[in-house]
Amino acid sequence: MKILFFILLLISSSSFAQNQDLREWIDQQYQISIQKLFANLSPNGTLPGTVVASPQKENPDYWYHWVRDAALVVDVVLSLENTENINSKEFLFDFVEVTRINQNRSGFDGLGEPKYYVNGDPYDGPWGRPQNDGPALRAIVLIKLANKLLDKGQFRWVQENLYRAELPANTVIKKDLEYVLHKWRDASFDLWEEIKGQNFYTRMVQRLALYEGAELAKRMNDPQAAIEYRNQAKSIEASLVNHRTTGKAYLFENLYWEEGLNYKHSGLDTSSLLAFLHTDDSFFSLSITDSLLLATIRELEKAFYNEYEINKVQYNGDQKLGVAFGRYPEDLYYNGNPWFLTTLAVAEHHLRLAKLLKSKSVIQIDDLNRDFYSDLLGIPYNLATTDKLAEKSMEYTKVLDRLEEKAFEYFARVRFHAGQDGRLWEQFDRNTGFMLSAYDLTWSYAAFITAYQALVNYERAQ
Ligand code: NOJ
Ligand code: NOJ
Repeated sequence: MKILFFILLLISSSSFAQNQDLREWIDQQYQISIQKLFANLSPNGTLPGTVVASPQKENPDYWYHWVRDAALVVDVVLSLENTENINSKEFLFDFVEVTRINQNRSGFDGLGEPKYYVNGDPYDGPWGRPQNDGPALRAIVLIKLANKLLDKGQFRWVQENLYRAELPANTVIKKDLEYVLHKWRDASFDLWEEIKGQNFYTRMVQRLALYEGAELAKRMNDPQAAIEYRNQAKSIEASLVNHRTTGKAYLFENLYWEEGLNYKHSGLDTSSLLAFLHTDDSFFSLSITDSLLLATIRELEKAFYNEYEINKVQYNGDQKLGVAFGRYPEDLYYNGNPWFLTTLAVAEHHLRLAKLLKSKSVIQIDDLNRDFYSDLLGIPYNLATTDKLAEKSMEYTKVLDRLEEKAFEYFARVRFHAGQDGRLWEQFDRNTGFMLSAYDLTWSYAAFITAYQALVNYERAQ
């Protein structure tokens, strides 16, 4: 008996040490991610305000300012101003200037141009155009900047440089909003730059841009625009139902195919999750608790588990490794591999969900989320006929614990494949686990930072 007790103690203390070790690594990786992300802002040889997707210039050449990547990265820069006291004022103003230059030079498809040379000119080779998530994402982040400046009383500067109530639009935010307003129904290429059609991710960010845009329009004395933006945001919202009612028990990302890759049959795509992470806001009834989203994550996890050989490696020492997520199961880019930013997205989701559930008192179980919660609870629990988990019940607590534990497992997966020095490339090989494609992908670091922020917010909420 005594011996058994001793052994149990040993096991649990070693897993405690494991966790602590992992937690320390996460802190360290967060600092490295900040450094590496900042290194890709206005690097030598670029117009100040440029965000290179990666410093890599060949195979693949990512030495461009991608509208989508840049907006997502600048969003992180803004958030770090609040939490880390990093003053990025100069960079942010340069980013506004790069945006102005990009918009004025434009490209084959106007503001739908997905990427720019580092001197501000639009890319002029063949590419999947237009990509209409770009202007929406850019508007979202610039609106955050505008609101921040307005809160500090800088109305004039905002009016001069970001949003002025006039048509044709002459300011960066207003231009992007007008583009979204008039073009959202048009087919465009998805965020992976592969399929032209109607894409859930694009619609979700367009919807948020117009909602936020309506609020900003009010602040900038543009009431008529506020009404229009809001009305169209509602129409976009209504159109989202198409992605929810395809007869599949998950979100269907790409609809009404017009052009591009034609082998994405499942419709399953981690970008549906990114859509929620990048738009979680107060205007909407959909949130990261959405049952269909939970069903989608579960389906993705099963698919990626089966798809990637590397997912059969489930432990690093005693440390359990979460399933590595890719973009979508049929992916063939670099042979189709797991990505850091998609795996981190699941960690972020679980932590944000856990934090939210902490503040709620019941979890409603329905036919769409039942399997997700059952999987978390594991064998002894049976949710087959349950319709809710009550506050303080064993089940409720276990769900929170498991979400946290799983989030750590995804972090451990990232650690397992990351460079010794904390470097994150775009992907890691589906068979060998070694990193590949673009090194120091700025978006990978941004994804680590937002996942980390979700972790800290969750911990603070205890
Ligand atoms: C380059 C794009 O950036 C990537 O997303 C895509 O998968 C490949 N082209 C193949 O179309
Ligand atoms: C390929 C990805 O699919 C796309 O989303 C991204 O914008 C570019 N790489 C640049 O990072």
